[in-house]
Amino acid sequence: MTSSPFSDQRPSPSAHSSSSLPSTAGPLLSVRDLRVVIDGLHILHGVDLDVAPAGVTALLGRNGAGKTTTVKAVMGLVPRTGSIRFSGAELSSLPTHLVVRHGIGYAPEDRGIFAGLTVAENLRLAERAAERAAGGGSGAGEPNYALVHELFPELKQRAGQLAGTLSGGQQQMVAIGRTLLNRNRLIIADEPTKGLAPKIVAEVADVLARAAEAVPVLLVEQNLALVRRLAGTCAVLADGRTAHRGDTAELLADEEAARRLLGVGSRHPLAGGPRPGASPATPVVTAEVKP
Ligand SMILES: Nc1ncnc2c1ncn2[C@@H]1O[C@H](COP(=O)(O)OP(=O)(O)OP(=O)(O)O)[C@@H](O)[C@H]1O
Ligand SMILES: [Mg+2]
Repeated sequence: MTSSPFSDQRPSPSAHSSSSLPSTAGPLLSVRDLRVVIDGLHILHGVDLDVAPAGVTALLGRNGAGKTTTVKAVMGLVPRTGSIRFSGAELSSLPTHLVVRHGIGYAPEDRGIFAGLTVAENLRLAERAAERAAGGGSGAGEPNYALVHELFPELKQRAGQLAGTLSGGQQQMVAIGRTLLNRNRLIIADEPTKGLAPKIVAEVADVLARAAEAVPVLLVEQNLALVRRLAGTCAVLADGRTAHRGDTAELLADEEAARRLLGVGSRHPLAGGPRPGASPATPVVTAEVKP
């Protein structure tokens, strides 16, 4: 192939048009009957979720529905039962360090940025994780700085800046950039826009769109305008179970279903929100989902 920084990632950006996907392509990640019990409390009672092999898949649901617990269960951060198949491998009995070796990068809800370290140092810490994984599976290999710097040139320009002085959008570049550094085959981002101003939400939407050109993304998100723009398919959780799976645009166009599953009212700004596939420069309407 070429020296393109994308060349080691799967799928390639060109794999995004559905016509170029292999006709046999099934879900990259397939979760079935996922259950989590913590301290005797049943948090998840049967989550089913498929993540597409390209682009963005959204995991939706009201506050407390079980979204974070679901992604933590996939990562092995909480005890779980059920099936978690990733690219043909069963992960449900694996601890986190072995899940990571299969090539899943996780950007947690709190971002996990070290504010007192520079951008370069934050990336360097992730690089060590890549080295540890070397030889351990499909996520192994040299850290892919070429990809990170191609997608997010700002991180190169701001290499010496303390991460704590970055904007919320730039911090998300660091958080997502770290997951790309490790040549992962799936990125899971948990509410990357939480608590951010609308202008910064638009920046983060761009960050996610760029990342998803290189690696499939499972996006936990409550900003439905952003979800509508980025995610082709979605799963909706309610009370620790999957309540709906399907096409994102169809769900959000169905007022009754959107209200029932997500609490979206008929006067919701989504009615005038940007369409899927719109230009990355399209402003994102912040859409709060009330419990
Ligand atoms: N360690 C824990 N111990 C007890 N209860 C928990 C624990 N973790 C989560 N829960 C409860 O499980 C439910 C699901 O939590 P979770 O964080 O997965 O929801 P969420 O969909 O991510 O919510 P949010 O939108 O607020 O981020 C909530 O009621 C939460 O209080
Ligand atoms: Mg959460």
